[in-house]
Amino acid sequence: MDSEKLKELFQQLTPEEKIAQTIQLNGSLVIENEVMTTGPMHDLGLPPNLKIHEIGSIYNVNDYQKLIQLQRETLEHSRLKIPMLFMSDVIYGFRTIFPIPLAQAGSYDFDLIEQAAEMTAKECYQNGLHVIFSPMLDLVRDPRWGRVMESPGEDVYTAKRFAQSVVTGYQGDLTHGLAENHVAACIKHFAGYGAPEAGREYNTVDMSNQRLFNEYLQPYQAAIEAQALLVMTAFNVLNGEPATGSRWLNREILRERFGFDGVLVSDHAAIKELVPHGFAKDEREAAQKGLEAGVDFDMMTSVYATHLPELIKQPELAALLDEAVWRILVLKNQLGLFENPYRGLRTQHTGEVLSDEAKELAVKLVEKSCVLLKNDGSLPLKKDQTVAVIGPYGESRLTLGFWASVSGKPQDTIPLKTGLLQHFAAENLIFARGYNLFDSYEQFGPLKAGIEQLNGPIEPEDQLLVEAVKAAEAAEVIVLTFGEQFMESGEGASKAHLQLPLKQIRLIQALKKTGKPLIGVLYTGRPLVLTQVEPLFDSLLLVWYPGTMGGIGIANLLSGQASPTAKLSMTFPRSEGQIPIYSAQLPTGRPLTDSEHSDRFLSKYRDESNEPLFAFGTGLSYGMFTGEWLESAVLSETIQLDYRIKNQAEVAGETVVQIYLLQRPASMVRPSRQLIASDLVLLAPQEDKEKRLSLPISVLGFYDNQGAKHLSNGTYRFLMRIDQKETLLAVTI
Ligand code: NOJ
Repeated sequence: MDSEKLKELFQQLTPEEKIAQTIQLNGSLVIENEVMTTGPMHDLGLPPNLKIHEIGSIYNVNDYQKLIQLQRETLEHSRLKIPMLFMSDVIYGFRTIFPIPLAQAGSYDFDLIEQAAEMTAKECYQNGLHVIFSPMLDLVRDPRWGRVMESPGEDVYTAKRFAQSVVTGYQGDLTHGLAENHVAACIKHFAGYGAPEAGREYNTVDMSNQRLFNEYLQPYQAAIEAQALLVMTAFNVLNGEPATGSRWLNREILRERFGFDGVLVSDHAAIKELVPHGFAKDEREAAQKGLEAGVDFDMMTSVYATHLPELIKQPELAALLDEAVWRILVLKNQLGLFENPYRGLRTQHTGEVLSDEAKELAVKLVEKSCVLLKNDGSLPLKKDQTVAVIGPYGESRLTLGFWASVSGKPQDTIPLKTGLLQHFAAENLIFARGYNLFDSYEQFGPLKAGIEQLNGPIEPEDQLLVEAVKAAEAAEVIVLTFGEQFMESGEGASKAHLQLPLKQIRLIQALKKTGKPLIGVLYTGRPLVLTQVEPLFDSLLLVWYPGTMGGIGIANLLSGQASPTAKLSMTFPRSEGQIPIYSAQLPTGRPLTDSEHSDRFLSKYRDESNEPLFAFGTGLSYGMFTGEWLESAVLSETIQLDYRIKNQAEVAGETVVQIYLLQRPASMVRPSRQLIASDLVLLAPQEDKEKRLSLPISVLGFYDNQGAKHLSNGTYRFLMRIDQKETLLAVTI
């Protein structure tokens, strides 16, 4: 529809219809006995005269038949036939579930990440979704917070590249609107949600503006530059104001400074929560503050619906409502919904999820996301070894991670056993569960029976331990799968303790005692504290939550068919007391080395090292790569850094080169090291390649506490990191 026609439509809307457009409800609230109903809606306190078919959007309905029906009903009953927007919590895959974002980011294969996002968009499109609530771009440095799994990790550069790849993969080229097989990205959670005090979910965030501008805001801004069409607000207080009610954040920064003109969605009930935050005296004031902050959709509360009718009697608030509704209509138009309200839904449905191509992409991304943390040579496994595969993840399909429960199905998952059987003879593999993945299935409520059936009954732990040791004794090498189960991370899963449960520690110790090489395969949604058990493993492969094709990709790595390349996207602390611990920390005036002060008065702990167990960027491979700096040149707009990478091995291989900036002195204290570039290099046996990195000089700039950018001449040092080796280069600008 052209803009004039859209304006005509907009002008015909009554105030009630406008308000209804700003309401977004979870599908479970409006569908009863397969039809849309106002019944459950009233539980939310929505006004009885609200017309359900006029509301702007519904989310988390992932069944295309239901969506067809919802749209049909909407068009039948909506006075002006305004189609409904369908959104969903698709975070790392619709039915083909890819590894969690924290894993994907460590692949540094941003093309592959984009292809996976494109595949996700295709599956969503063909199942009738218009908008998906991702990528989540909250920078994270505290593994106590359960949502680190859905973030690209601790590093600004990595998160920015991830943001651009995912947004582009979802939305494609927007020149002619959102094309077929693409959906709109809703980035979240604006802003700073990833830094809650004490790692406690929904807790306060307080940080300096320089940190906000230089670090936490950067990934969102990169996504907006990649033209993300929607943004979701955050639950947290940021520097004294709830993010959702902050005019400064949502209008001055998001819209004016970053140039975002798309739709801003509140997080679930976040406008209403301005009251318990103590930022609004009642729900009416909360509604006013939400509208004033520029929040277009009220997700899952009755606050806009109840109070806007009265509030918009004030002309300045009526004008703000008009702006919000206009943005929602523009989005519907960008999606082509006025011409084709069944966008994506009219196509043939068989075979549109879990295609061979999707599965192949997922396998590749698993291979590229698993991080080899330690290897004494026991990996890869040898073809004719007898292997005891111990631990629940040998056979469990519950490896998709928390958010996949919205649209994914564990039944689609390929377990590790199936993958291993592609490489090893069945008689060489001995399986034992080792311990129960869950202590009980009660937490699953109505889903309990289904999960239990899928995962098997709970067995006595002592018996499982005995069987595990027996299996280990009968084998030459042990592969132990262990870690968290999927409910332990995700939203609402903060933890104060990051060590393994005692039953897992006990099992690891018992297996170590057999004297067989012990290879750990760690499933987790967050960095854990492994200081006690790490020395007991001969090799350790971190597989995060690997998704639908995890079993195949992991088996390819264990067998040596594929070689690990991924790097840690988030630091593993030695103990919880070190948190937050991350790579880009600022130097102190009393560093451990080169200080004139005596030992006691240095920046350190009395009872713990300053070093993490595994630092950001850690990641081994089966190959052997080296690198050296060559020439460098400073041009008017760019710095050119030349380097050479060599594959020392007799087999072809791929490696991730990371380049860090060490910037000191500067007019503000800059991180001790800051990742500014990465390069994924594929080399033939013994091959060496010369590479050139052209960096815009602007990467040397940084923001002060007023948000102003600084850039100065001086000597900058660059550090190249390949495998675990580091080489420095100084360049004068
Ligand atoms: C709350 C979560 O914070 C957000 O990430 C999610 O998209 C919404 N609920 C909708 O389910």
